[in-house]
Amino acid sequence: MPTALIVLAAGRGTRMNSNLPKVMHRLAGVPLFAHALAAARTLEARRTVLVVGHGGDMVARAAQDLDPDVIVARQDEQLGTAHAVLQARAALAGFSGDVVVLYGDTPFVRAETLRRMTEARQRFDIVALGFEAADPDRYGRLIMDGDSLERIVECKDAAPYEKRISFCNSGIMMADRATMFDLLDAVDNDNASGEYYLTKIVEVGKARGLSATAVACPEAETLGIDSRPQLAAAEAAFQARAREQALENGVTLVAPETVYFALDTVLGRDVVVEPNVVFAPGVTVESGALIRAFSHLEGCHVGAGAVVGPFARLRPGAELANDVRIGNFVEIKNAEIGDGAKVNHLSYIGDAEIGAGTNIGAGTVTCNYDGVMKHRTVIGRDAFIGSDTMLVAPVRVGDGAMTGSGSVITGDVPEGALALGRARQQNKPGLARKLFEKYKSAKAKREKDG
Ligand code: UD1
Repeated sequence: MPTALIVLAAGRGTRMNSNLPKVMHRLAGVPLFAHALAAARTLEARRTVLVVGHGGDMVARAAQDLDPDVIVARQDEQLGTAHAVLQARAALAGFSGDVVVLYGDTPFVRAETLRRMTEARQRFDIVALGFEAADPDRYGRLIMDGDSLERIVECKDAAPYEKRISFCNSGIMMADRATMFDLLDAVDNDNASGEYYLTKIVEVGKARGLSATAVACPEAETLGIDSRPQLAAAEAAFQARAREQALENGVTLVAPETVYFALDTVLGRDVVVEPNVVFAPGVTVESGALIRAFSHLEGCHVGAGAVVGPFARLRPGAELANDVRIGNFVEIKNAEIGDGAKVNHLSYIGDAEIGAGTNIGAGTVTCNYDGVMKHRTVIGRDAFIGSDTMLVAPVRVGDGAMTGSGSVITGDVPEGALALGRARQQNKPGLARKLFEKYKSAKAKREKDG
């Protein structure tokens, strides 16, 4: 059955005490709502709709950056979860199949749980996701009769005997698109909050002879984030799981508790990660690479057998081929580094291409920015860039070429040539000694004169 995903993300999140909309706060390096959007892959969703409200423009921009196929729907007034889902109607016009509703502030629902909901959908018209709550307090209660979900009662509307039920609603719901919107049309706001409740579709559906059930999952999966302490706890939970997963996948983490992962970090088998390494979003590290201590990686690809760090920074667009060496205090941005090339010390390589086997000497800088535009540096294979070379882009250095230390290279260097771009050295015999004497006597005179 084809599936579409609706992610509700219109709420303000007052308890975050923030100028940012709640779902823009980051968890595992990405905005909170991106975790729910990731379910689109699991569900192989044909369409994904994000319902935005508070800070809608900002959330919409961030969503488009993450995935241009996401359709943004606006909910200008937050009149309840049913009203929020209804805002996705136009975006799903003409779609036939199932709709899954997720919350943008609920990041941990597992793929396996969604699959179980999909299976249950083969037998029931409406499927909700429930959990046994340690403290049911504010949650909607799932009123079951065997396998059948009879209705969902919000805490505020629940009778005392219903409040004693601990099987609670996570908020995640699944039904055929046409059925879902038909039922939503019949939902009123006649309840204690005066809101249009999505949960009401169960009762309305049952009255129309439809069937409903609830699939259960552990409470940890349904954890919603309302406050900064909850965000911090969620980050800790995410990191603990990601570290465990990496170890299971055959990655060595020398000090797991000091390594930070993003939602999409991919580390190959036998990668070794030393302490205090941060993986920001968009990083893939191939098998057998070594990421040394205190390195920061983002939006980059590290080839098999490469060594990065200690104290290296790989920024977006850094593409390291196999067996590359990136050493301490080196920054690489938007640059391809060929097989076995080395940038071992104190260098900045940005907007560049470096051929296989080339050695970049200590303190080399690709001067890529002229104050207005960025320019590229292209260096061939097996070249040798002397220490402290400034490569003023746009510039090309041919295969097997060399630059002298301290050179400022402003013009192209042909293949096999040595380029020198620095003042010639002059030695003045005895002049140093004379200058020392002159300075010392000037100092002595100043001290004597007070
Ligand atoms: C909802 C459920 C409740 C469930 C609980 C789990 C309803 C009526 N109640 O209650 O049964 O136990 O979640 O956490 O559905 N949102 C919008 N627009 C709105 C209202 C909400 O986008 O107009 C979004 C919020 O941003 C949030 C989510 O929907 O991500 C849930 O809204 P919230 O108001 O927190 O629902 P609860 O009262 O917690």
